[in-house]
Amino acid sequence: MVPGRNSMEIIIAKFSHWWPPLKKGTPATLRAIFFFLVLFLAAYISSLCLDTSAFLSIKNEPVPTNVEVVLVRPENLTKLEEPRTPLPAKLQTLPERVLEFPAIDCSGADERKNQTRTCPDRGKEPTWEPARGSRGECPSYFRWIHEDLKPWKASGITREMVEGGRGSANFRLVIKKGRVYVEKFRKSIQSRDKFTIWGILQLLRKYPGKIPDLELMFDCEDKPVIRPEKYSAEAAALPPLFRYCGDRRTVDVVFPDWSFWGWAEINIRPWDKLQKEMKEGNKIIKWEEREPYAYWKGNPFVADTRKDLLTCNVSDRHDWGARIFIQVNLLDWFKESQQGFKESSLAKQCKHRYKIYIEGYAWSVSEKYILACDSITFMVKPYYYDFFTRSLEPLVHYWPINDRDKCRSIEYGVQWGNQNPEKAQAIGRAASELIQEKVSMDYVYDYMFHLLNEYGKLLRFEPQVPAASVEVCSEGMACSGGGEDVLGLGLERKFMLESLVKSPSLSRPCEIGHPFESQELEKYYKRNLNTIRRVQKWESQYWQDFEKQG
Ligand SMILES: *[C@@H]1O[C@H](CO)[C@@H](O)[C@H](O)[C@H]1NC(C)=O
Ligand SMILES: *[C@@H]1O[C@H](CO)[C@@H](O)[C@H](O)[C@H]1NC(C)=O
Ligand SMILES: *[C@@H]1O[C@H](CO)[C@@H](O)[C@H](O)[C@H]1NC(C)=O
Repeated sequence: MVPGRNSMEIIIAKFSHWWPPLKKGTPATLRAIFFFLVLFLAAYISSLCLDTSAFLSIKNEPVPTNVEVVLVRPENLTKLEEPRTPLPAKLQTLPERVLEFPAIDCSGADERKNQTRTCPDRGKEPTWEPARGSRGECPSYFRWIHEDLKPWKASGITREMVEGGRGSANFRLVIKKGRVYVEKFRKSIQSRDKFTIWGILQLLRKYPGKIPDLELMFDCEDKPVIRPEKYSAEAAALPPLFRYCGDRRTVDVVFPDWSFWGWAEINIRPWDKLQKEMKEGNKIIKWEEREPYAYWKGNPFVADTRKDLLTCNVSDRHDWGARIFIQVNLLDWFKESQQGFKESSLAKQCKHRYKIYIEGYAWSVSEKYILACDSITFMVKPYYYDFFTRSLEPLVHYWPINDRDKCRSIEYGVQWGNQNPEKAQAIGRAASELIQEKVSMDYVYDYMFHLLNEYGKLLRFEPQVPAASVEVCSEGMACSGGGEDVLGLGLERKFMLESLVKSPSLSRPCEIGHPFESQELEKYYKRNLNTIRRVQKWESQYWQDFEKQG
């Protein structure tokens, strides 16, 4: 059946039979109550009705969700008057109304390559009102959205400012009436740009009609580049440039990285599934049974601080409690996993009590995988943040490692953890829980939702579709990402279809907290700094005692 305003009458007709018929002589107030009830019901149902959105098909019966909740509850009814007939059982378990997008069928897409770019004509812009309430309050890291957009709060964002980001952006993305257009400037590293755009397309499927028209510039490189002091002379032109991480000196706007939708080049699957795998994987080896060392494996040649870490590896002369391994090429890592080296599967890598996180060029995508391990994360002092890491607290979610004295810092951390296993485990668990619960895909989308909505509010110009842009849509992207990827395994398409949002959200996004007060931020920085200093004090005490003994 076609969803539309007409379904309203049908639903009312369906329910009318259980309404207790009003007897003659029913008090006027009761009659009035029922009258308003009917009005309320009608208003509610019509608010649920979709526009004739041809691109959505209804899966179950077109019955609005939770009608029994919205209507007066049975117990309230009995208070007014015993219903003649008991409520039909069906009403108590109304099926959830599930709308699904048509399935994406890529069969034959490779043969008709030039057609895959066309996006289906969706007719009128769909409007969608989630049936359920909001997901509740957003995790606290959402409040950084206000902080990230603060530089433009007073001035708003002009076209000139957006254009200012063009010099380093990989692409411009335009959302206009729910459709997405991309103007490419330069190739990105690997498939970062593709999967980022894919993520935004999925956001639009999750919240159709709820993302404002906008234009933004996106830079897929690692390092943040927008230093406000460079623009201070002409404050008007500070570019809002989207990227995956930021640092203290820059004002780039942070956005969830591509790996949440998959990293095809090294076979890291979309986060939604991987997250669940990791949760299961954590049960394989209990913390006590994990190796009592601090483990790191990666490419040390991208940053001096990583080369420095190599000196902390166990040697004939000293065991710092660290086990450090070099893996320059991520493809090697992938090949290992292809050859059945089970340990290379991320979900099964949580074999050590301590896992070192150390930045490379900038922040590293590996952070969430390390934090999700139930091991305790040894965080070498980070200089960059991504969208969620600002909610991490030392000694709550990680153990801080002094980047100027890594080896001694690691050795002390390992000693501490082995002597305080309960406390160490609690830290490991808190981090896993944060990643599992607060960085779920629902929240990743909600973060994008709020960020783009707040950004959209600041725009002081009418977004335009540039002549040089192409429209992108899930259908075209998923089907074109066929044999193109480096491994030739069709992983791009596989990951896209795996992370495809199949139906709009049943709930509204979570509610974003208000901006930080400046004292609040000061306190936050101070608290973290004090905790880190406390650990450094313990450390130096430990080494002083050690030297005295030695
Ligand atoms: C319905 O009944 C419940 C429990 O009896 C009560 O808490 C609630 O306030 C009532 N709702 C209305 C709208 O009267
Ligand atoms: C692909 O595009 C070219 C040129 O635009 C056209 O000549 C050709 O027929 C198209 N192929 C298919 C299979 O549609
Ligand atoms: C670190 O030590 C381990 C154990 O001796 C060794 O297998 C590994 O290759 C070393 N790593 C580096 C980077 O030398």
